[in-house]
Amino acid sequence: MDEISKINEAVGFIRARHADPVQVGVILGSGLGGFIDHLEVSIEISYAEIPHFPVSTVEGHSGKLILGKVGDKAVVVMAGRFHYYEGYTAQEVVFPVRVMQALGAHFLFVSNAAGGVNPGFKVGDLMIIKDHISFSIVNPLLGKNIEALGPRFPDMSEPYSKALVSKAHAVASTLGHSLREGIYYGVTGPTFETRAEYKMIHLLGADAVGMSTVQEVIAAIHCGMTVFAMSVITDLGIREEENIITHQEVLDAANIAAPKLTSIFKTMIETLDLVSAN
Ligand code: HPA
Repeated sequence: MDEISKINEAVGFIRARHADPVQVGVILGSGLGGFIDHLEVSIEISYAEIPHFPVSTVEGHSGKLILGKVGDKAVVVMAGRFHYYEGYTAQEVVFPVRVMQALGAHFLFVSNAAGGVNPGFKVGDLMIIKDHISFSIVNPLLGKNIEALGPRFPDMSEPYSKALVSKAHAVASTLGHSLREGIYYGVTGPTFETRAEYKMIHLLGADAVGMSTVQEVIAAIHCGMTVFAMSVITDLGIREEENIITHQEVLDAANIAAPKLTSIFKTMIETLDLVSAN
């Protein structure tokens, strides 16, 4: 079955449960599931039920699609995402993004846990992603282009909406949260980086590194969505001292920073201007 038919089947299944179109898609990263508490939930659908959806396997990812409202905005939220390192193809990883767009979402808000490689960062910092480096991941658009979704050679000069970056700064200052801004370097994982790799990533101009997001954002830009993304810095890669990073440490740090990220996402979405994209 071709990709468009799979997307249409998934959309048909979801619409049969919840007919209203959605406006905003949200992807919740490791330890950031608390956003759901700020939703007026209409319906939760386990990924396992949705035709052609992969099933999430990582600890800390619950694996369901939630449709509901944030203020007066209709949202579709992925609680749990698919990572390339779990063994899915790059196309499978981005399938839900394409479904969210087909459900009507013109905006995509993405969150993740990331390792900081900017020496000025601290664990628990929030970083607006202003750009990314995709060369160490598998591009989800490899292969025959799906013309019905987007162009063969998508422009990537501004994958992260400048208007939404400015809006995030304004919202964070109103809420009294400080934000970093930086470049996210995508890797496949599942290994955390070696000391030499963290240094290399820093030298290449990135501020943080993580195992998600970039493929999703590429697919979102391809199909014409407006994207905003934010990382919680959960560990620091370029310390000289002994520095063993564990998944638990990443989850713990994400849990602590999650309320700040959640309140920024919530306020941004509530006050989103759907017409002028800010
Ligand atoms: N590296 C890659 N991915 C990550 C990290 C890291 O240090 N922390 C959280 N996700």
